[in-house]
Amino acid sequence: MTNNATMHEHDVIVVGGGGAGLRAAIAAEEEGADVAIVTKLHPVRSHTGAAEGGINAALRDGDDPKDHAYDTMKGSDYLGDAPAIETLCETSPEETIQLEHWGMPFSREEDGRVSQRPFGGLSFPRTTYAGAETGHHLLHTMYEQVVKRGVTVYDEFYVMDLAVTDHPDPDERECHGCIAYNIKSGDLVGFKADGVILATGGDGQAFDHTTNAVANTGDGLAMAYRAGVPVEDPEFVQFHPTTLPSTGVLISEGVRGEGGILYNSEGERFLFERGYANNDGELASRDVVARAELTEVSEGRGVNDEYVDLDMRHLGEERIVDRLENILHLAEDFEGVDGLEEPMPVKPGQHYHMGGIETDENGETCVSGLYAAGECACVSVHGSNRLGGNALPELIVFGARAGYDAAGRDLGEARIDTGPGARSETETDLDTPVSPGALDGAEPDAVADGGALATNAEAVVEDELRRQRERVETLLERDGINHAEIRSDLQDAMTEFVNVFREKEGLQQALEAIRDCRERYQNVAVADPSRTFNTDLLHTIETRNLIDVAETITLGALARDEFRGAHWRKEHQERKDDEWLKHTMISWNGGDPEVFYTDVILEGEEKTYEPKIRSY
Ligand code: FUM
Repeated sequence: MTNNATMHEHDVIVVGGGGAGLRAAIAAEEEGADVAIVTKLHPVRSHTGAAEGGINAALRDGDDPKDHAYDTMKGSDYLGDAPAIETLCETSPEETIQLEHWGMPFSREEDGRVSQRPFGGLSFPRTTYAGAETGHHLLHTMYEQVVKRGVTVYDEFYVMDLAVTDHPDPDERECHGCIAYNIKSGDLVGFKADGVILATGGDGQAFDHTTNAVANTGDGLAMAYRAGVPVEDPEFVQFHPTTLPSTGVLISEGVRGEGGILYNSEGERFLFERGYANNDGELASRDVVARAELTEVSEGRGVNDEYVDLDMRHLGEERIVDRLENILHLAEDFEGVDGLEEPMPVKPGQHYHMGGIETDENGETCVSGLYAAGECACVSVHGSNRLGGNALPELIVFGARAGYDAAGRDLGEARIDTGPGARSETETDLDTPVSPGALDGAEPDAVADGGALATNAEAVVEDELRRQRERVETLLERDGINHAEIRSDLQDAMTEFVNVFREKEGLQQALEAIRDCRERYQNVAVADPSRTFNTDLLHTIETRNLIDVAETITLGALARDEFRGAHWRKEHQERKDDEWLKHTMISWNGGDPEVFYTDVILEGEEKTYEPKIRSY
């Protein structure tokens, strides 16, 4: 480790201290690397702590990783890549057992075995959990390991951008570090490293009704995108069926896993009675349940014209308190409802981004030295719809792989190709206005898009540090508009037009609104002049990231003229396998987004997954 006031040097830098970041750091340390975590939040305040449900792992007799892989591929609506899905499902059991050995307090059966419960879209009850606060325990368990191993943690350091060489071809670029704003002191510092792992989580703040924390602003995704890494399948956003209407707070799928029932205003168990999911009912996959709920509301059978009821009273107090106690507190605190005495109001809310930074199964992107893992990444295991309980295993399996690979362990050659060089031979015609036109009048300091001119690693970081300093000074010193109104307009447009139900006209309106936000952002300024704990500055920079993320989501959604998984299109009511067994890739391309496609890999180690009609 080399440190001076403005430059820190480590072998591996992990950006983000949630589940994927902690697991990556532990793996890199185990491999002998000098590793540091740089994070805008203290690790145990990361959004992984809000994960309630559990970890899917084929641990029991009668279960098999192959069945987990099949369920995941089906859940993905055949848009996941088999090498990644098989790696996830084969490795999840050992990673889960590793957590148990590190002391994670899993819920247990009378005989001492860790408990598992049913979750949506699973053919076996394989979701391992710790009450309804699995993510909280997972974070604390791994943070203990990070402390024990002496991993350096720079918390309250907000990474603003990456330090990447400026080769015209993204496949030839190299990442040498990143630049962070020290929230406590107001200083900007460079971090130089041989490997940088982005583990910055989700981007739910692009929407206004979300289960995501306010910190989930797509920072890593936007930084990688501007550095030239394609954003993969951005159009696929998950809307969780059970969020509290007034706040978006998550009510875990674990409630339905334990036997909770959804009713419409007529008292019908509509998933069965109205034929949405005749076999699995409440435990159909999330995209199916979310659409069913909104259809009930739009056809006049919603409660108070807004939501449906989730009833768990019949489970009994003892079972609820034993397995779902946290849910009682959330319903009481955020909605004033006693879940032991009355049903809880629920409606769909943005929950998870299936799309993300394109990586191979070792976590590496097309930019040499740059990795990504967890929700900000797309490897791709979730395809067009993630199964509940598959996010936490993704964090630990691919967090560990990224950590090992970045620290130099040979994981073997990846089967998934990345970068613009991997584009498919058969491109899809786009009937979509992709280009926003040149960013005329763009204020370069405020819209820095990464890419330093130097080639020597230290000089690349220093160049980027200088650019980011200028950017901050510009934002602090000039007059202009506040980011908050831009962010709010962006969230409104995304929530209105890029939600569960999508149609071309609405998506085009959203794109116009996003580009209007981008225009206005050229004149953004920070009202608070202070240098320490300047959250106005932080949120201003985050808002820029949200604009970039929202544009990729909307462009991907406009271009994909089919209905697959979580992506429903009014004009296109079928899955079109002949045309669309493809991953969308969107490249930053100097601010003029370029859309291209790569083929989905359905050939696994032992079988090829044949797309079938997906019903639950
Ligand atoms: O419903 C839940 O507990 C969420 C789980 C998940 O997103 O995997």
